[in-house]
Amino acid sequence: MAFELEALPYAADALEPHIDKTTMEIHHDRHHQAYVDNLNKAIAGTDAENLSLLDIIKNVSKYSAAVRNNGGGHYNHSLFWKVLGPNAGGTPTGELADAINATFGSFDELKKQLQAAGATRFGSGWAWLIVGADGKLEVTSTPNQDNPLMDVAEVKGTPILGIDVWEHAYYLKFQNKRPAYLEEIFNVINWDAVAQNYAAAK
Ligand SMILES: [Fe+2]
Repeated sequence: MAFELEALPYAADALEPHIDKTTMEIHHDRHHQAYVDNLNKAIAGTDAENLSLLDIIKNVSKYSAAVRNNGGGHYNHSLFWKVLGPNAGGTPTGELADAINATFGSFDELKKQLQAAGATRFGSGWAWLIVGADGKLEVTSTPNQDNPLMDVAEVKGTPILGIDVWEHAYYLKFQNKRPAYLEEIFNVINWDAVAQNYAAAK
């Protein structure tokens, strides 16, 4: 059964003025679509064809570079669209807020660490907020389309928030100013969705 690209959960212009419509269209309709198409090509006729995306990701070292890059690309972007949204931003509440304060001291410190993880990731990759095996929150980053669920990841855990720092995520509006993008994106993070991911992961 081939993997399919889900529609964005909101309109492509819904994150304006923070993330522009054209970036969202190209990012979802072309980049994410290409990861899905190339993943399907890479697994066609192999034993991975009948596995879930999560099963592929967790054992990704068994598969080709094409499966790692495109399977990661599909998983990561599917998460990314859901942790963004219109009428979002602000700060987390409830259990997630308590866990953030316990681990990082404050929301501002978490934000600083996520921005630093994204800004210092050389080349393309992702900044993550994860739940580690010990149930604790942690900030990490991965190169390319790797993610912390992969058996090849240096720091492992369940990602509850991912921030795409590939140039395709920000170049049209922010050009080379990745830190400016990493400030702006906090206006569209859907902390309710992140809190749901946290509740499911811990
Ligand atoms: Fe991306």
